[in-house]
Amino acid sequence: MKTYTHHINGEFVPAGTSTTLDVIDPAAESVIARVPDGSRDDVDRAAAAAREAFDAGPWKDTTAQDRGRILFALARIVRERAAELAELETRNTGKPIVEAEFDVVDVATCFEYYGGLATKIHGDVIPVPDNAMSLALREPIGVAGQIIPWNYPLLMAAWKLAPAICAGCTMVLKPAEQTPLTVLELASSFADAGLPPGVVNIVTGAGETGAAIVAHPGVDKIAFTGSAEVGKSIMRGAADTLKKISLELGGKSPNIFFADADFEAAVEGALFGVFFNQGEVCSAGSRILVERPIYGRFVDAIAEKARAIKVGPPLDRETKMGALVSREQFDRVRRYQEIGKREAKLAVGGGAARGAAIDRGYFVEPTIFYDVDNSTRIAREEIFGPVACVIPFDGEEEAVRIANDTYYGLAAAVWTRDIFRAMRTVKNLRAGIVWVNHMQPTYVEAPWGGYKQSGIGRELGKWGVEEYLNVKQVYINLSEQPIGWY
Ligand code: NAI
Ligand code: MG
Repeated sequence: MKTYTHHINGEFVPAGTSTTLDVIDPAAESVIARVPDGSRDDVDRAAAAAREAFDAGPWKDTTAQDRGRILFALARIVRERAAELAELETRNTGKPIVEAEFDVVDVATCFEYYGGLATKIHGDVIPVPDNAMSLALREPIGVAGQIIPWNYPLLMAAWKLAPAICAGCTMVLKPAEQTPLTVLELASSFADAGLPPGVVNIVTGAGETGAAIVAHPGVDKIAFTGSAEVGKSIMRGAADTLKKISLELGGKSPNIFFADADFEAAVEGALFGVFFNQGEVCSAGSRILVERPIYGRFVDAIAEKARAIKVGPPLDRETKMGALVSREQFDRVRRYQEIGKREAKLAVGGGAARGAAIDRGYFVEPTIFYDVDNSTRIAREEIFGPVACVIPFDGEEEAVRIANDTYYGLAAAVWTRDIFRAMRTVKNLRAGIVWVNHMQPTYVEAPWGGYKQSGIGRELGKWGVEEYLNVKQVYINLSEQPIGWY
């Protein structure tokens, strides 16, 4: 068992206090590591290191070309350490090893994308009606505070670190208390990648540590991914120092199936949309809307296929669904399974999952409720586990009305062979990401973020780096004459 420390100013340093947090393997229910429960003083030290690296250097004198090379080096190191990082991710999250391997490839791709973008950020020259030159410069916003969740620990770290490094910011990142290990392991390679001390600082801890980052006067911007509830508290907390914020919150995303959709593809797409990564996905298609003519057959088909999903040990390459991340998340999902039994009809699942290979651990059955009313709790509240609600509808208008009847607006998908209906539905859905005849593919090149209470701002692509930039307007007088006013 390994005991980790914070990574501040290029070094692993002991915390100011001795309070630690246990890190769990959720499939074995055993402690696999300990990390410091970061105090306000620890956050102060990390923020001071980030401030110093930004204000005094050497980071501020680093060129865009240098930053691009550092990002490419990080990508190469992630690829070299892929097997080790994927296995550690699986041990800490409970997700299937095959999925963790995909995640690590996505991490490397994310660093590569922003490595390439680093040299393509530039401002504008604006024509003004005077003998003058007007410029808009784009500058890094400063020190970024980054608070991330546990469902894709290393990938969510990459989504935050890569654009911030690309923009020339320095940062204090706090991983989720449940899953701090992979980013701490990556931190041991920061110097090898050429990152100067103080540019990326990692402080571990829970909610209070996060709140200290949000309140810190030396931090210029907060980027957060997690629950809507905490997102709202971050918005309030950031108000005192008027920090720029970007929030990527949850969802209750509709996956809409019209009767003319390819039936086999639709059945698989409904399951993939909601059960991938144990349903611990912010864009999970947790509301499956099905047009009446195929409704009965569709419910039967997804239930039958869900029954055969292999829930098993996360390190087994045949496993399609692993353990939930924590006891807390397991209890939460179990509670919603019971609420669902009172609110709707159960097609499959509904309990914890147990078997010869999984005699302990936070495993739950893939669960599908049907004849769900969109006003029930299971249809309105984010469960963040493998629990699907199937809701029938009649026609396009009703589909869109039910789909949009939610506080959230992260993602949506529509399945049909009718191009006109597909495009009308895309246009009418109030969500930041809409898929047609698929659900979940995500690319670092394309924008990611929500409408309504699913968040503020966009990550990934050229949009992601904007969150870390400020604009400076510069006026240059070309006339040598006095103003001539007085
Ligand atoms: P959470 O939102 O409490 O935690 C996410 C991150 O925020 C963690 O790093 C946590 O330490 C930090 N945090 C917690 N309280 C904070 C505060 N007051 N100030 C600053 N940082 C704070 O999520 P939690 O409790 O782990 O999960 C609860 C529910 O949140 C899940 O069941 C799911 O519905 C949702 N969630 C959504 C995610 C998404 O990707 N949109 C990711 C994780 C959770
Ligand atoms: Mg919480």
